[in-house]
Amino acid sequence: MSSKGPALLKILPTKDLKEGKSFKFEIPRPDRKTEAFVVKWNSKFYAYLNLCRHWTVGLDFDDNDFFDEDKAWLVCKNHGALYEPSTGICQGGPCGGAGLYRVPLVEKEGILYADVAKVDWGEM
Ligand code: FES
Repeated sequence: MSSKGPALLKILPTKDLKEGKSFKFEIPRPDRKTEAFVVKWNSKFYAYLNLCRHWTVGLDFDDNDFFDEDKAWLVCKNHGALYEPSTGICQGGPCGGAGLYRVPLVEKEGILYADVAKVDWGEM
């Protein structure tokens, strides 16, 4: 692990994340850890920093539940911002068209990894 932390951060085995479910993990940074989450949606995996683009707070109420009832959108429980699961792009509510910060994934031998060096940290 370099001073900037792991290049590929092990998240979980792909078999452990079911369709329409999510899993939270932490990305270590030099000065703090940032929470992120991965979802399985339409048989594919997508990961984002757990930071809404309306207010920079977590989308879930610490309950690891990110989908709306129909599993069609990622929803922020604070004020209802809606994000498209496969792109993270805001589709409704007070997120004003901004997208979630993407965490690129690498899948190797049945394990999901976060490609930490390629995370979109925005202005953070
Ligand atoms: S903080 Fe997410 S909608 Fe307001």
